[in-house]
Amino acid sequence: MNNQGSISAPQNVAQRTDDDVRSHWNRLVGRRSFLKGVGLAGAAILPGSGLLAGKALADGKREITRGDIAILQFLAAVELIESDLWQQYNELGGVNGGNPSYMAALSNLDGDMPQYIADNTDDELSHAAFLNAYLESKGAEPVHLDAFRRLPSSKATGASQIGRLTNLQSLNVDTSWYIRYRSDLNPDFGAKFRQAVTIDDEPAIPLSDEDTPPGTEQPVPPVDKAARRMQAIANTAGFHFAYIEQGGSSLYSTMALKASSLETLLIVVSIGGVETNHFSLWHDKAGNAVAEPLAGVVDPETNLRFPNLNEEPFGGEEFQTNLILPEPTDFISPGLPDCSVVRPTLDENAGAVATINSFTEDQLFKGQSPAFFETVMRLAKAADAAQRAVSDR
Ligand SMILES: [Fe+2]
Ligand SMILES: [Fe+2]
Repeated sequence: MNNQGSISAPQNVAQRTDDDVRSHWNRLVGRRSFLKGVGLAGAAILPGSGLLAGKALADGKREITRGDIAILQFLAAVELIESDLWQQYNELGGVNGGNPSYMAALSNLDGDMPQYIADNTDDELSHAAFLNAYLESKGAEPVHLDAFRRLPSSKATGASQIGRLTNLQSLNVDTSWYIRYRSDLNPDFGAKFRQAVTIDDEPAIPLSDEDTPPGTEQPVPPVDKAARRMQAIANTAGFHFAYIEQGGSSLYSTMALKASSLETLLIVVSIGGVETNHFSLWHDKAGNAVAEPLAGVVDPETNLRFPNLNEEPFGGEEFQTNLILPEPTDFISPGLPDCSVVRPTLDENAGAVATINSFTEDQLFKGQSPAFFETVMRLAKAADAAQRAVSDR
């Protein structure tokens, strides 16, 4: 399982990084040794890690807790899922994409959309590859979901005809994140949020050239039936991009609280920061689907409508489309001042099982086999069960 030849260089880099971070943090967080003393009671750590960190370090061996493995394995699975969906978007609408009409409709949200889609795709591929390589470098099992790449591809011009992990052809996109991040209420304190736009059973990629001819002009606003259909599909993608990445932002924050080694924590917060970066970008672009001059698009097939959220009966801080930075909200305690933070971060709202359940409701796994759900849920439950056991490593 462990290919020593291919992992020696990353290990050296990881060792340097870990040592640098450890010395930096030890300077900044003087109470760490105290926390280690109180935090280890009852914690399950693999032999050789945690209290034996010094010896393991001296031996040049990199140990890892079972909890950290579970966290990283689940995140690897999520990154494979993200990679699969982003690759579908990229084939059709990325900067080297193959569907001119879809690219044009996406570009109506922002002229740089195809470039952003390609870059986001690259990021997800790098996340998945890194996490699996890191797991292997620790002697842990990487995650592969290739057996489940069985869902059909789009038939539209530009899509490769290969099996997929995820469905983008009929989605229920949860758009409550749009209101959540404009609200000063936090779902971790029980707040619930309505949908900004109700998107049910809607494609986020073109389905076929019969449905959306790939050479259709995409003026703003769209003037004919084919153009309106494609614009509604691109708008759905815009909201779906943000839905996926806000989920990643919350998931990584939640998993960070469970990490034991500094290196695992470094991985989780560093990749998590990029998920948040993605979310912020897509939040801005989704708003352009529901603002002048593009607002008002109606899908002629499904009647899905993208209203102008800056006008009655919408408008106000709950809907204003350029309020894309998180509003300060309840955090830690309602008695403390509101704080602008990623939310939710409670297990039940943003943990691994919650993430899989949300993706399932999104219909991202529509058509997947029972074995797929069993596999991802097993990984999710193990990640949620991980407990922080403070270690210097
Ligand atoms: Fe990612
Ligand atoms: Fe992501």
